[in-house]
Amino acid sequence: MTAEPGSIQIIVELLYLIASVLFILSLKWMSSPTTARHGIWAGEIGMVLAIGGTLLNHGMDYRLIAIALVLGTIIGIPLGRVAMTAVPQRTALSHAFGALCVTLVGSAEFYLRTPDISRFMMSVLSLEVILGGLTVTGSLMAAGKLQEILPQRPLTYKGQNLVNFVLLAGALVIAVSLVLHPEARTLFPFMILIALAFGVLLIIPIGGADMPTVISLLNGYAGLSAAAMGFVLNSKLLIIAGALDGSSGLILSIIMSKAMNRSFTNVLFGAFGQVQAAAAAGEEARPVRSATPEEAAAILSAANRVIVVPGYGMAVAQAQHKVRELYDGLTKRGVDVRFAIHPVAGRMPGHMNVLLAEADIPYDRLIEMDEINGDFPQTDVALVIGANDVTNPAARSDASSPIYGMPILDVDKAHTVMVIKRSMNPGFAGIDNPLYYLDNTLMLFGDAKAFVGSIVRELGGGHS
Ligand code: TAP
Repeated sequence: MTAEPGSIQIIVELLYLIASVLFILSLKWMSSPTTARHGIWAGEIGMVLAIGGTLLNHGMDYRLIAIALVLGTIIGIPLGRVAMTAVPQRTALSHAFGALCVTLVGSAEFYLRTPDISRFMMSVLSLEVILGGLTVTGSLMAAGKLQEILPQRPLTYKGQNLVNFVLLAGALVIAVSLVLHPEARTLFPFMILIALAFGVLLIIPIGGADMPTVISLLNGYAGLSAAAMGFVLNSKLLIIAGALDGSSGLILSIIMSKAMNRSFTNVLFGAFGQVQAAAAAGEEARPVRSATPEEAAAILSAANRVIVVPGYGMAVAQAQHKVRELYDGLTKRGVDVRFAIHPVAGRMPGHMNVLLAEADIPYDRLIEMDEINGDFPQTDVALVIGANDVTNPAARSDASSPIYGMPILDVDKAHTVMVIKRSMNPGFAGIDNPLYYLDNTLMLFGDAKAFVGSIVRELGGGHS
């Protein structure tokens, strides 16, 4: 049985329409933890329908597509299995792959269509490959920095902004020339080369704590380049998906730069993260006070109000289920336990929410930074579990600190602070934390899962 080409086209359009609606619903549902799972399903089903629709399209070379599918699956399966802590660099790699695809498709379209190309189409195509090109190298650099293959420190030099602007202007001048004279095809590779170089230079000056914002910015660039590709290929689905991806990436980076107290214009032009190197060298060891699980359990059970501050170390130790047991144990004793969520705690947006939700900690116990910060002075115990940078008071007072200006959780204002970590080693930003030397701070040295487990045992063994 063979279907009419016209009816196949209608099916394809219908599949694309349903896929577009599912993408929109997916984003909407993902904005709330209660509907997030539906959001993931909607996005996945939408993508399957979109791929199905594309395969039904006329003139496909199914052999090549099968090879691409097999290759993509071989690369994709291990990529999907990385630890949660490696998700940011994995996400950066996905942006690089997506942007590479956009750039290659754009290049192919350029050579297929020129010189008979409208000015509008050439403008959009230039935008597509410039954004695509800079996202490829920018995302690879970001992934390298996050994976610590590349140095994390910001590399800055005099006139950096000028060099970047000149490069970008160079790419734009070529784009305008091609819009006016599409027959000047030899210029095209230079535009792509400049975009690739620009991506590298854009990420070089960005370091440590500002990386999360950059990842979502690159997400935004990747989405916008895909939307531009949608115009070039006349695909409404791509325009919708790209615009959703682009705008959500840009909105997220604006939210994150606000959370990090960075100016968004600085993020856009890549000249941020220009911070002084931490004065770590030559520091003498300062005394800290430490406590045992038994002592920690006694302090916690005598408290009325406890705020738990989870961080990257809780994720590394996979301590969330033990934390849930601690929450249950303390709540049973009548202690009010809440969780303070810093917007960049961990290694990806929402990292702590995901882990705590996985352990079934009631969502209304998770309180955002701005809302909970005023409560620390009336809190008996702030229990920091594997968090470091997001509690560092130097961000408030030390203008030379790389994280100066970043809003932090004011745990130091609690009556007692207890910090679970394995050593005095620094966190992601690579800097010392004055919190650990305060009179009201007790260090609980050990692996987060093991230490919380010991506290839980002590609580259970005590006279409840
Ligand atoms: P960090 O400042 O990175 O500190 C984590 C601490 O956890 C470390 O000091 C480490 O100390 C401890 N730790 C590691 N493994 C542990 C284990 N098994 N048990 C107990 N403790 C352990 O974490 P944070 O406070 O969550 O701050 C996040 C940082 O990452 C910020 O600088 C942020 O900008 C950056 N960042 C965030 C994101 C996003 S979007 N969230 C993405 C990339 C980067 P020990 O080694 O002494 O145990």
